[in-house]
Amino acid sequence: MPAKEPTKKKRKRSKKKTEAIKETDAVPFTARLMAYYRAQERNNQSPLIDDPFAEQLAGDMTEYVSKHSVGRGDYPVVRSYYIETRFLAPWCKSQAESQIVLLGAGLDTRAYRFKPLEENEHTIFEIDLRVVNKYKERLLKDETPRCRLVRLSADLSKRRWVSELKKKGFSKDVPTFWVLEGLVYYMEQEDVITLLKEAAKMSPLGSLIFADVCVPGLADAMYGPLMMHFKWGLQEDEIPDFFAASGWNVACSFADDHDQGRDVGQRGLIFVQGARKESLADLTTTKAKKIQPEESTLSITDPELQTFSLQTAQEVIPQIEHVVNTFKNNPKEGLTAYLDFVEEVKPSMMKIIKGFQDVTSIGRISPRLLRDPLSMDLLTLRRAPDEVEAHVSGFLKAILMLVYCGAKGLEGSQFSGTPVHKEALKQEGVTDISSVSIIARTVKEEITKE
Ligand SMILES: C[S@@+](CC[C@H](N)C(=O)[O-])C[C@H]1O[C@@H](n2cnc3c(N)ncnc32)[C@H](O)[C@@H]1O
Repeated sequence: MPAKEPTKKKRKRSKKKTEAIKETDAVPFTARLMAYYRAQERNNQSPLIDDPFAEQLAGDMTEYVSKHSVGRGDYPVVRSYYIETRFLAPWCKSQAESQIVLLGAGLDTRAYRFKPLEENEHTIFEIDLRVVNKYKERLLKDETPRCRLVRLSADLSKRRWVSELKKKGFSKDVPTFWVLEGLVYYMEQEDVITLLKEAAKMSPLGSLIFADVCVPGLADAMYGPLMMHFKWGLQEDEIPDFFAASGWNVACSFADDHDQGRDVGQRGLIFVQGARKESLADLTTTKAKKIQPEESTLSITDPELQTFSLQTAQEVIPQIEHVVNTFKNNPKEGLTAYLDFVEEVKPSMMKIIKGFQDVTSIGRISPRLLRDPLSMDLLTLRRAPDEVEAHVSGFLKAILMLVYCGAKGLEGSQFSGTPVHKEALKQEGVTDISSVSIIARTVKEEITKE
């Protein structure tokens, strides 16, 4: 019997479902994973936090969780508990009027679930990338926040967020609590320094800050789905000076000292909290680290960057094929060829990467991997041969996806649904180096099409 044509209604439903899946795919997985952990916490016998919206926001994580070791997620839950009980609850009680800025808010739902916000007059400003905010707004559109809620879509590594926040009603006269929860290690250090300084300059005395920072060892290793994206870290004794030079007097302690009996990462993560410095006079002269002048970056939609990406694609595809063939014949030589290739391609890739608003939505690419081939050398040497192959093929596929998006002028969030994305999905989890050639072929075909 011939298969029945789906009814119009069914087609509509399935189209909606596909769109929803695509939208979830575009949200950085670190944000979804945080929501997933908060959802899991509801099954805990003694939960530290209760987020009734987390499960829906995390979306279907079954496949992801089956492929990656995601752990129990004690750390983010302990972190939320610490922020809320130690700082936010007393803050809401003590401030007649305040602003709470969640930088890199992700899928946080405090605005809807945190009861102390109902005391006095508070405004929550949530700042994250557009793709995250759009998704969140759609899912929470029927919910009522417990205080005034303002959402701002912005890239925090570009200074423009400051003027946009002011346009959205942020007042520099109202005491402000800045929350950088799970954010700083995902950004470049120079961008974090600028961010901290701007926050200090916009805050009246009495304003507070919370951030969590990782130690350098964690930033250098790829322990899991979260930490593989960490870009930098600080030792505990470096933290006060680093923040002081950016306008904040802080104290810090290892997350383990506040772990509520959970496993929070063995002295790898540090909670930092403090207040705005009395005087900001030295902000422009003190150097936390040498800050390079802002280089002008081209957006991915800029024709100049598109042409550059196309040329890069044409150059790297044969190079990648060479690495693949060398690897197939002799994995040891293949690894050397691969590391040489990464070193050579690094500057071009960084130029392309900078054009994206959100590079992590393209096949979960970590810019740090592209920048740091030497640290990968040490890592890969410690790995089993099949892990090395998986790593090399994953990385080469990432380069192919990046040059493809660049050549086509596609933002990270537009990658989903493209022929290369479809092929990449088919190859997801295939760690054989030959799978790289399949993606390379698709990219080659697609970039030559008008
Ligand atoms: C690990 S998640 C943490 C989210 C949230 N604070 C939580 O604890 O659930 C990091 C968030 O930072 C956001 N983020 C990272 N870099 C950003 C940038 N340059 N501009 C804006 N948001 C950024 C990501 O989109 C993501 O939602």
